[in-house]
Amino acid sequence: MSVATFTPAERVRALPPNFWGAMDREIARLSALPGPRMIDVSKGNPDLPTPEHIVAAMQREVADPVNHRYPSYAGRPSVRDAVALRYREDHGVALDPATQVAVFHGSHEGLMAAVLSLADPGSTVVLPDPGYPMYTSAADLAQARIEPLPLTEPGFQPDFAALERLNAARALLLNYPNNPTGALATRATFEGAVSFAERTGAAFVHDFAYASLGFDGNRPLSALTVDTERTVEVQTLSKTYSMAGWRFGYAAGNASVIDGMKRYQAHAFSTMFGATQEAAAVALAGDQSAASALVEVYQRRRDVVVTGLQSLGWDVFVPEGTFFVWVRVPGGGDAVEFAARLREEERVAVAPGDGFGPRGRGHIRIGLVHDEQSLVELIERLDAFMRRN
Ligand SMILES: Cc1ncc(COP(=O)(O)O)c(C=O)c1O
Repeated sequence: MSVATFTPAERVRALPPNFWGAMDREIARLSALPGPRMIDVSKGNPDLPTPEHIVAAMQREVADPVNHRYPSYAGRPSVRDAVALRYREDHGVALDPATQVAVFHGSHEGLMAAVLSLADPGSTVVLPDPGYPMYTSAADLAQARIEPLPLTEPGFQPDFAALERLNAARALLLNYPNNPTGALATRATFEGAVSFAERTGAAFVHDFAYASLGFDGNRPLSALTVDTERTVEVQTLSKTYSMAGWRFGYAAGNASVIDGMKRYQAHAFSTMFGATQEAAAVALAGDQSAASALVEVYQRRRDVVVTGLQSLGWDVFVPEGTFFVWVRVPGGGDAVEFAARLREEERVAVAPGDGFGPRGRGHIRIGLVHDEQSLVELIERLDAFMRRN
């Protein structure tokens, strides 16, 4: 018998080719060649370890046979209570942990559940441009129509006037602190989002993945401080506590949206390891000083990169949050080509803005997921590159 070849289903065939896949293969190829080590700032994969008290909690919980059995679909009360506690303490928002909180394997899964539980095939989903690429994947899997919402300069805030003629949508997605630009939202941003959502009948889904990462003493604003009536906010432990590999995220807000997300989750993804849930509860309810220390580390790194790029005369948007720096390609060139040359000639990998949508073109994103010494070396290599070109 010969090995059969199967064509994936239409919903999988319709997914765009992974923009980053080819770049990752190229980074791996160049890294294996002799020469200087690759400085890869193209990703948002936190380099710092998870705080020890959270690791210790996980070790305890893994050893407890209670966690070796199937967990309940509802999510552990301990972690849902801890989410409600964080919202109360950090944002002054009161939530019912039974009906207004759901937990997921990372915010990627939470956002997927939000879009797939809200959007019917052919319905409209409004996505920020530039924006985090998985929003498009989620809308594509839902077979929804994507309406891009421009984030305009200065400040990379949504231009709702550009969608004046749109009358109906199922979901509006925004993300602040913003990946890729590093911008923070103001109250006006979320007030605009809520009135747009009301007018079009949409649910407002706010991706708050970088909730803790605000610089210069600014605590990023939760969209739930502006509205809980048609808003759901999705968060993650990946960045706040350097727990990207643990896969833990959560959603909070409007109970009917949360209910739809949970229902989708139960069918599509089943349940979550109890030990991870208990360790997440410790992260959220325990001492937050390690999370604050992380913000200081990223702020120092931001300062190294921003000052360095400014000294080279580059046009940098000074990030107000996240761990990304968004930069216009010097001389106005093509970002994909610029990034390819940087990789080849300097062994520096940056993310071309094209991967974040049409408005990302002409920009590159630099991730602050390396120590300060490597970031100093990054600037030196960029300097050398510019002198030669
Ligand atoms: C804006 C944004 N949202 C969501 C995610 C997904 O994070 P996770 O699935 O680790 O929670 C990321 C990860 O980089 C992100 O940058």
